[in-house]
Order: sequence, then structure tokens, then C-alpha cells
Amino acid sequence: MHFIKITDYLDYIGVNDRETPRFENIWPLPKGVSYNSYLLKSDKTALLDTVKITKVSDFINNLRNSLDGRELDYLVVHHMEPDHAGSIKSLLDLYPNIKIVGNKKTIQFLSEFFDITDNTILIDEGDTLDLGDRKLVFYKTPMVHWPESMVSYEVNSKILFSQDIFGGFGALDGNIFDDEQGDFEALETEIRRYYSNIVGKHSKSANMALNKLKDLEIDMICPVHGPIWRKSPEKIINLYKKYANHETDPGIVIAYGSMYGTNAKMADYLARELVNNGINNICVFDVSKTNISYILSEVWRYNGLILGSCTYDNRAYPKMTDLMNILEMNKIENHYLGIFGSFSWSGGGVKEIREFSEKTKFDLVDEVEVKSRITDEDYINLEELAKNMAEKVLG
Ligand code: FEO
Repeated sequence: MHFIKITDYLDYIGVNDRETPRFENIWPLPKGVSYNSYLLKSDKTALLDTVKITKVSDFINNLRNSLDGRELDYLVVHHMEPDHAGSIKSLLDLYPNIKIVGNKKTIQFLSEFFDITDNTILIDEGDTLDLGDRKLVFYKTPMVHWPESMVSYEVNSKILFSQDIFGGFGALDGNIFDDEQGDFEALETEIRRYYSNIVGKHSKSANMALNKLKDLEIDMICPVHGPIWRKSPEKIINLYKKYANHETDPGIVIAYGSMYGTNAKMADYLARELVNNGINNICVFDVSKTNISYILSEVWRYNGLILGSCTYDNRAYPKMTDLMNILEMNKIENHYLGIFGSFSWSGGGVKEIREFSEKTKFDLVDEVEVKSRITDEDYINLEELAKNMAEKVLG
């Protein structure tokens, strides 16, 4: 992509990445991801973040075209994760005189990651970088997503450069602005998946950051992933507020691990019973098939979760254990939990899920465990589990 003009004094010089299969080498990227970077052109010029090193060539080309012969005066580093800081060294090779702007933690990371100690400008909360008719004010947003993370606000045009906050997965297919998105539901799905996979575990910090920024008058949000919000910045602010507050919709995710079909059969039976009890939003996932990224995203969406597992060597199914680890790490709140599972010669599957519920903030509603095959009595118990979950979820 060539650079794209956002305003007379601001260009988009980011890049798309459709080659990397997984973000952080974990989370699938079927629609790719964008690494956004911006060039602010005032009396002085300021580059706002770089991109992942694999995309440095396109990025530098965009930067050169946007500069159009002007000097590059500053690099503002909002976040040091390599998807944004990866090209700093290459940038310095080409522009050795630029001054790098960061907070105390950023300066420390610049030294640790890149051995960069010269030409840095230390800023702190509320400090201003004066570029002429454009001025950036800095606000620290620790742990959203790293300890050094910060945002900047251009006071005259009321633009927030928000780094990871307000970001989403998905490459920008020409449509870099919110008002150019044809399928908002698809966009929101990738935003929620990004939030739950990347930011979710830091929701407390995300809430603190949102509170800190709440009194700013914001006309445009420029994040480092996903579209620029120039028409309806309140849309993405409200989505992030909802996610950070663990606000959910009525619905149930059923995730199961099954070797020979018993737990798959119970999952389907439960799903139909949930429908019979008035639940319309139901997602059923086989943990062996569906990447945790998608399951976690739907868990963030709905207030009910039912986990089912066969017993595998006296424990839960390994893929179920992986899911529970991720759920625990994400400190999920405001959720009801149902459990089902099976065993033949010794238990373990249901027991491990029960232990998981005791370590987390899930509200355990009911559980069903079957031995070897599903009996008539087990089906009655599953009906009861579905009824109890539906009552809780629908409030
Ligand atoms: Fe997009 Fe936390 O890096």
C-alpha cells in the first residue's frame, strides 16, 4: 500500500500483513492484520510508531513518499512490542538524527532490546511534544498492552493515537477508515477476538486507561491495528468499554473434548435442550478442531459457558486443559458455568473442570457425569443442567 492522506498534516503509512499465520505465534490471522503507522507533518515531523520488521521495506517506502523530501525529526514510540517497534533499528540506519520520544520504561526497553541510548527524549504523564501548530500530549496506559504503553493526543485536531487500545485483527483491504467498512459485524468479530486474545487479561488496566481518557474530546482515533475511527469514534470506545467491563449478552458457549463421541453427543443434546429453554445464542465447539482464539472470543461475548470433557488418563482431555488455562489467565468475570463429562474406569475429566471453577470467578450452576455410556437417567440430568443454565443466563 502507498501512503494515504488522512488530513492535510497527517498520513497513514502503515502496512498489511497477510503472510503471518498467527499473531504472537498463537492467535490465527485468517484475515491478516495491519500494523498502522502515522506521519504527523507540522513545522516539525513526527513518525508515530513503526511496523514489524518483516514489513520494513514497504514501510520505509511509504515513509519516504509521505515525507516527500522533508526531514524526519521525531519518532514517538507508544509501544515497544515488536509488531510496532521492530523497524526502529532500520529506521535509525536511514535517519540517524531523529530524536526518539518515550517514557522511562520505553527508554529502558530501547536500551535492552536495541542498545539505543542516544538521541532519546524522556516524557512523562501530561508532557507535551511541540511540533509547531500540532502538539502531542502524552498519557501513560500501563499494561495495555505492555508496561511502557502510552497514547498521545493531538490537541488542535483532537486526534488520539491510541496504540493497541481500540485495535482489532484483520488487514485493511483498502478501507482504512471506519466509514468505509461494508460489513461492520465482521469487523466487530475481529475486534472482539483481538480484545479477548490480546488485551482481555489486562482488562483492569484497560478500564483505568479508558477512565483516564474519558474527558478528552476525541474527533478521531488512530490505533496501531484495524481501522481509523474518524466518523464514529464513540463506536469503538463503547465496544472497548463493554469488553473491559466484562459486559456480556445472554447466550451459551458449549466447548467439549471428545475421543469417541460420547461428549460430542452430550454437547448436541444440551444445545437442543437449551433452545427448548429459550436460549437462541448458542455456539458449540469441539476443542480439538476450533482454535482457542475463537472460543475465547465467544466466551467474552456470552454470559454462559458449559465445558464438557472425557477422562484422559485420569485427567481432563488435554485440549480442554489448554482452554481452561487460557480462561483462567483471562480472569473471566460475570459468567455462569455448567459442567459435563464422562469416564469409564476412573474419573478425572469432570473433577478437573470442577477444580478449574473453584480457582476462577465462574458461578458454577450444575454438573453431569456419565459412566461409559449415556443412560436414560443421564439424559434427564442433562435436561436439568440445560434448564438450570438457561434460567441463570436469561436472568
Ligand atoms: Fe500490537 Fe501489543 O502490540
